[in-house]
Amino acid sequence: MTDVLTPVLTNNWGDERSWTLEAYEAQGGYGALTKALAMAPGDVITAVKDSGLRGRGGAGFPTGMKWSFIPQDNPKPKYLVVNADESEPGTCKDMPLMMATPHTLVEGVIISSYAIRAHTAFIYIRGEVLHVIRRVQAAVTEAYAAGHLGKDIHGTGYDLDVVVHAGAGAYICGEETALLEGLEGRRGQPRLRPPFPAVAGLYASPTVINNVESIASVPSIIEHGAEWFASMGTEKSKGYGIFSLSGHVKTPGQYEAPLGITLRELIDLAGGMRDGHELKFWTPGGSSTPLLTKEHLDVPLDFEGVGAAGSMLGTRALQLFDETTCVLRAVLRWTEFYKHESCGKCTPCREGTWWLVQTLAALEKGQGSESDLELLLDQCDNILGRSFCALADGATSPISSSIQYFRDEYLAHLTHGGCPFDPAASTLFA
Ligand code: NAI
Repeated sequence: MTDVLTPVLTNNWGDERSWTLEAYEAQGGYGALTKALAMAPGDVITAVKDSGLRGRGGAGFPTGMKWSFIPQDNPKPKYLVVNADESEPGTCKDMPLMMATPHTLVEGVIISSYAIRAHTAFIYIRGEVLHVIRRVQAAVTEAYAAGHLGKDIHGTGYDLDVVVHAGAGAYICGEETALLEGLEGRRGQPRLRPPFPAVAGLYASPTVINNVESIASVPSIIEHGAEWFASMGTEKSKGYGIFSLSGHVKTPGQYEAPLGITLRELIDLAGGMRDGHELKFWTPGGSSTPLLTKEHLDVPLDFEGVGAAGSMLGTRALQLFDETTCVLRAVLRWTEFYKHESCGKCTPCREGTWWLVQTLAALEKGQGSESDLELLLDQCDNILGRSFCALADGATSPISSSIQYFRDEYLAHLTHGGCPFDPAASTLFA
């Protein structure tokens, strides 16, 4: 089994009042900030580049490279925006991190803002999680009082203000440009890219947008060095990450491990599948990533390994389903979610997700014919790559992959005249 290293981000989650400044500083918290402020901003960017850290929000774009895109000769203000709108079905890593150790995020925000020479940073938190918003706001307030934020931080002459912003509960606002629209006070709908936010982001100024876990990873990189981080993980997917396991596993929860760990190893850590049952299918990174099956238990969970298996690492939201689950029913439930959350801006997504639900719902009831499977795949083809942002692409992932692996189960609904699964046996979808 891959060595499961001492957790870094999750290390102090169980400590008493781990969310307070006192507890964080007792563990050496804000030491990395002191170190970073003694470095030139460009050297902080180089350290993050050398670490190999890739975006933990799902896409895996190199974080240091993104920071280096910020044009320093542009006289406009620069902004850091933390995407804390975690909404991908199954994804549950940023919220517990912000609840347990919000100061890791706040310290990361200060170091990252210093690196890109921003003097205002925003933490955009999903609106439904009031408890998280309160906790992060309390940490920011503590950081101001301690002189970690505000004017002349640690006497270095560097100024930074942090604004905690509550979203209004739309999945689309996790898409970075829709998030910016929301921050600017407009309805959350994606913008055309390019220009990427690094060039024209918030208020048309150069903006870095990073996920919570990416930013929270920065203090330990500064503290222990780029080499330390790069020594973990795999060749192109460095470091560690938080894997959220949910579904039919004995001990669901967050497991922090080096990238490249396998699902088989993670299931072992989680005590196994529930007694008497075996894995049927799973999502590597939330429902927007193509499903995998028990054939893929030994796929290295890094960007390349999961990609080679035909899916995406995404948010490392591992949703596990055993043989009692009707795959069609699970896929229908996800598709309804995407239809509901489509912002309506582009036709392939607005109309396409509606049609996907109609076709899937009929099949799930055992209505239609085998040709409806081809119709579904055709609908997916007409959506994929033709919509404004990644939302509709993601909606097609569970459909096309489930037909690839479980075509017989779709057909069984037709021959059975409905769902062949005993609903009572399915604990997730009954
Ligand atoms: P993307 O690959 O288009 O972009 C990733 C990041 O790199 C963005 O910040 C983008 O601005 C930047 N970037 C890419 N090319 C660039 C360039 N040429 N110049 C400057 N910057 C550049 O991915 P996208 O559409 O932003 O996100 C899709 C991902 O989001 C999916 O992989 C999915 O896993 C994840 N996702 C995460 C959710 C969550 O709750 N955390 C929810 C839904 C999706």
